[in-house]
Amino acid sequence: MVEDLRLDSLEGVGPVTTRKLSDAGVHNVMDLIVRGPVEIAAITGMEKDTAEKIVEKARQHLVEGGIIASHFTRATEIYKHRQNIGKITTGTNCLDTLFDGGLETQALTEVYGEFGCGKTQFAHTMSVMVQKSKEEGGLDGSVLYIDTENTFRPERIVSIAKAHDMDPEKVLDRIIVARAYNSSHQILILEESGPVIEENNVKLIVADSAVGLFRAEYLGRGTLAVRQQKLNHFVHLLSRIAETYNCAALATNQVMASPDVFFGDPTRPIGGNVVAHTSTYRIYFKKSGKKRIARMVDSPHHPEEEVIFALGEAGVIDPEDIDKKTTKKVIVKKSTKKTKDLEIEATVETPEIEATVETPEIEATVEIESDDFEPTEE
Ligand SMILES: Nc1ncnc2c1ncn2[C@@H]1O[C@H](COP(=O)(O)OP(=O)(O)OP(=O)(O)O)[C@@H](O)[C@H]1O
Ligand SMILES: [Mg+2]
Repeated sequence: MVEDLRLDSLEGVGPVTTRKLSDAGVHNVMDLIVRGPVEIAAITGMEKDTAEKIVEKARQHLVEGGIIASHFTRATEIYKHRQNIGKITTGTNCLDTLFDGGLETQALTEVYGEFGCGKTQFAHTMSVMVQKSKEEGGLDGSVLYIDTENTFRPERIVSIAKAHDMDPEKVLDRIIVARAYNSSHQILILEESGPVIEENNVKLIVADSAVGLFRAEYLGRGTLAVRQQKLNHFVHLLSRIAETYNCAALATNQVMASPDVFFGDPTRPIGGNVVAHTSTYRIYFKKSGKKRIARMVDSPHHPEEEVIFALGEAGVIDPEDIDKKTTKKVIVKKSTKKTKDLEIEATVETPEIEATVETPEIEATVEIESDDFEPTEE
């Protein structure tokens, strides 16, 4: 299989072309498809015609090997090809329901939401879950984790792995972290990722955050076109890699407030339409007190629905699990009267009490102000 993907296994591709391609970071037949003829010509300096011929040969080679679909395909063939799609459990019932079984391979899933809504926690959780065996809902695969904000935390991986009865050391060992320092580096990591994906049986690629560096580097309206073009390149590459290597791609995207939106949710992904159009699935995470809401926004075959989840030591968790733990903690703290504790909790949440709490505060500030003024006047 690996032998078949070597560049020189293509007819007419000799040592000189192979060298030219590998110098430009194109290491195997898959990479030719992922990068496409326009890019191959640009990075190797070869004629566009030649690049087109080589990429076409690569495509035929992979069609013959049953790795990718041909131009014209019967729906039965596509259906068969889609049977190879793997799903990675989220480790929760609620998100598995939303995802209709889990995160899919051959697809780019975008998770967007404001800061602290759990995008990174979700990425960490999925990096552990993909390593579970197929029987347990994983794909027995490794992870390529592109960290652009320096928020990857091995400690969290250890906690999540322990919570799922997995050996933390083994789990850490199967996560390959690539720290991206700028947007060009972020693109380069992906361009060079082919051999890493293949050699390590990578089944999940995380880009957390996919958009942050692009936003930070290309400021102002004048640079918007270039930024979107580069971002477009990155997300398309990610999407093509997911399809070609049959792995799941997960991109996170922070949202910013749009004051000009009066109807619907006043937030939108900073990646704008670029990420949205390329993603197969888009999920919106929203804070709701201690819990979180996940909404399937855009999917070719899922209904638009919402579920409630939570964050905990085990990463993303079912809301029932946080309730169980909270109740337990309350009982430990106030160990004497369980029934009274519960009653107090219920009344605190009612809006009436919140209103009465606010009034004395206002009264108090009026008094303090008048006290302050008196001495200065004297
Ligand atoms: N060990 C833990 N146990 C429980 N909850 C945790 C734990 N670690 C982090 N959290 C929760 O995760 C939240 C942060 O989530 P996360 O870092 O995933 O946000 P994010 O969506 O990636 O934000 P940003 O856009 O800033 O990157 C914290 O506010 C906290 O509620
Ligand atoms: Mg984050």
